[in-house]
Amino acid sequence: MTKWLGAFMLECKNIGFYYNRSNWLFRNIHLSIERGEIIGIYGKSGSGKTTLAKIMANYLSPTEGEVLVDGEKSNHSEVYPVQLIWQHPEQAINPKWKLSKIFEEAKELDQDIPSILGIKEEWLNRRAHELSGGELQRFCIARAFHPDTRYIIADEITSMFDAITQAQIWHALIRLVKERNIGVLAISHHISLLERISDRIIDFNQLKGASEKSF
Ligand SMILES: Nc1ncnc2c1ncn2[C@@H]1O[C@H](COP(=O)(O)OP(=O)(O)OP(=O)(O)O)[C@@H](O)[C@H]1O
Ligand SMILES: [Mg+2]
Repeated sequence: MTKWLGAFMLECKNIGFYYNRSNWLFRNIHLSIERGEIIGIYGKSGSGKTTLAKIMANYLSPTEGEVLVDGEKSNHSEVYPVQLIWQHPEQAINPKWKLSKIFEEAKELDQDIPSILGIKEEWLNRRAHELSGGELQRFCIARAFHPDTRYIIADEITSMFDAITQAQIWHALIRLVKERNIGVLAISHHISLLERISDRIIDFNQLKGASEKSF
């Protein structure tokens, strides 16, 4: 396949961000993720990884620079092609919801996704607070696989689980992204995990460049 410049990539171009005008959290971030590629990223706590994840998934606007999805800026389509999966699934799903509602909302979800993620049918009749964190996280992952999803940002998605659950979840997720040619940014403090799952690993603190500058 011929690849042309800027196509089929999630790109951060010269991204800068601050919460407080007097203090840039980071500046000059350049990062690109190709479709089908898994990039691992690690870095000090509080350095801004989750903030960058939110910018890439269009939850936050960058203070400077732009994010391009396959060469285009956000077009505010109903389902954004960059999906963010959070560390704490219980904060991402209303605890009173029956889990069947997640799949009712995600009508276009491929039918094979729940079984690949090890989601049991009996869980569907329970409410979110009646599942373990690891069980609930599988639902958060499942709903990220909308047919329009082209990139997934996975922000510490397995850090609270035991090693077996962590391995099961990543095994399933990698199978799904490779089958669908989805690009992934995996954020984790566990470098050994990143080494197992990533095509390439980045140190966020090196990426930050001139971020320590302030006004
Ligand atoms: N809404 C907010 N308003 C002001 N400051 C914020 C806000 N959200 C985060 N911060 C601050 O921005 C900095 C970066 O936070 P962020 O969550 O992006 O870091 P992180 O690299 O993901 O850290 P960790 O590895 O602990 O998850 C922190 O100092 C945090 O306190
Ligand atoms: Mg974080």
